[in-house]
Amino acid sequence: MVADAMSALQRRYGKTHRKDRWWVEPLLSGGGLAAFLLYSTVAVVVGPNWSYEVGPYLSPMFEPLIRPDWLPRWFSPGFLILWAPAGFRTTCYYYRRTYYRSYFLSPPACAVAEPAATYSGESKFPLILQNVHRYFMYVALVFNVLLWVGAVKSYWMPGEGLGIGVGSIVMTLNAFFLMMYSLGCHSLRHWVAGGLNSFSRTPIRRLRRKAWEIFTIANEKHRMWAWTSMIFVGLTDLYIRLVANGVITDIHTWKSF
Ligand code: FES
Repeated sequence: MVADAMSALQRRYGKTHRKDRWWVEPLLSGGGLAAFLLYSTVAVVVGPNWSYEVGPYLSPMFEPLIRPDWLPRWFSPGFLILWAPAGFRTTCYYYRRTYYRSYFLSPPACAVAEPAATYSGESKFPLILQNVHRYFMYVALVFNVLLWVGAVKSYWMPGEGLGIGVGSIVMTLNAFFLMMYSLGCHSLRHWVAGGLNSFSRTPIRRLRRKAWEIFTIANEKHRMWAWTSMIFVGLTDLYIRLVANGVITDIHTWKSF
């Protein structure tokens, strides 16, 4: 049985008339996604042992910081919030395309044969659960606000007051990139005005159309914002940890750290 499946896979997989290097994109995007998943998992797991906050800076992988007294020292607070961004990204239409192609080879690229003989799309269990994306989108919007709050707070050092550092700029850029990624969400765009037959009947509908037009600008570059925001979350976490653990020095206007 396994031998039959393997030979069917060999017969079908990769058959195409394409002459270009169609395998480059799934290889790079699958590798990039795997690298981020690995980094973020390690970053959250080692959280309590390698400081993720310093001065007014807090790693975005721990925002908002939930650290009740009863939480054991070894338990990373990142686990309490990781489900939200992870659920949002893994059910995102763009990332689905990425891992369906790179990991499930279904299909590996346009006009390239896939191993599976049948195709049921996302209409059956378990892939039908991808529809939960809309609900993760609502949660992600709350996280966007929290990340902006964290970015604004990074300009205020307790005991010293207003100032600015490289970390403040990094955290602001991180909040901006994540906001652009979220605003370009297909579910958000549909929720705002995608189901309307007429845009002009009432002032509210005209307002919804305006919002739809604005979100469309971010939506057209959803792939770019997906990658920019994902890479920058990792870089922001890395920067704050390197500063917090004394590996590099942050340039800032405050005196006390
Ligand atoms: S479709 Fe990508 S975030 Fe919603």
